[in-house]
Amino acid sequence: MYKNLTFGWGFFISPYHPSLSQKSLLLIKLKNKDMGIVQTLHSYWAYLTLAMLVIAAINAIMGYFNSKPYIMGKDLRISLFALIFTHIQFLIGLVLYFVSERFSLWSELGVGGVMKNELARLLLVEHPLTNILAIILITIGWSKHKKIENAKGKFGKIAFFYTLGLVLLLARIPWDQWL
Ligand code: HEM
Repeated sequence: MYKNLTFGWGFFISPYHPSLSQKSLLLIKLKNKDMGIVQTLHSYWAYLTLAMLVIAAINAIMGYFNSKPYIMGKDLRISLFALIFTHIQFLIGLVLYFVSERFSLWSELGVGGVMKNELARLLLVEHPLTNILAIILITIGWSKHKKIENAKGKFGKIAFFYTLGLVLLLARIPWDQWL
């Protein structure tokens, strides 16, 4: 599955090389940036999701502080689109979690090994859990805003929950893997 990989200082190394220890192989697996279809989708959809969330959060903050009227055709649509994009990203992430070759690190390193390794912990524990929490907050914000009648209240709920969700998402994105 692995091709020759550029590793460390830029030389090519084959994972089939007999001198490679199991530890080196796991390291290669962890740093491997070859992407499958699901990871590619998750990677590109992330741009749209984050962009939509930024737009929705800024729109709600401006609506709140400028006491704007809540327009169904515009404000509802913006926050709904952000919600839908986030949920789609969640579903892709869920599939990716189990199809990613990183998943086998659970059995290869064990729970203790994954938790001790910074990158494995980020990809397999921190990123998914923080993002699920963020998506729950965004969903709560959406349903709370729907139950409120006045514009300021609606904007307030979206502004608070979407911004909090966005901050959580940004805090645990594997930036080095992504960009
Ligand atoms: C809105 C929510 C999310 C955003 C914005 C997001 C964004 C990202 C980004 C930008 C990457 C790096 C992609 C790359 O290497 O090019 C990534 C990786 C990953 N994400 Fe997410 N993600 C989200 C939710 C989730 C969820 C809910 C899960 C799992 C339940 C998940 C599982 C993963 C996994 C396993 C990787 C690492 C893939 C690998 O390198 O093998 N993500 N995510």
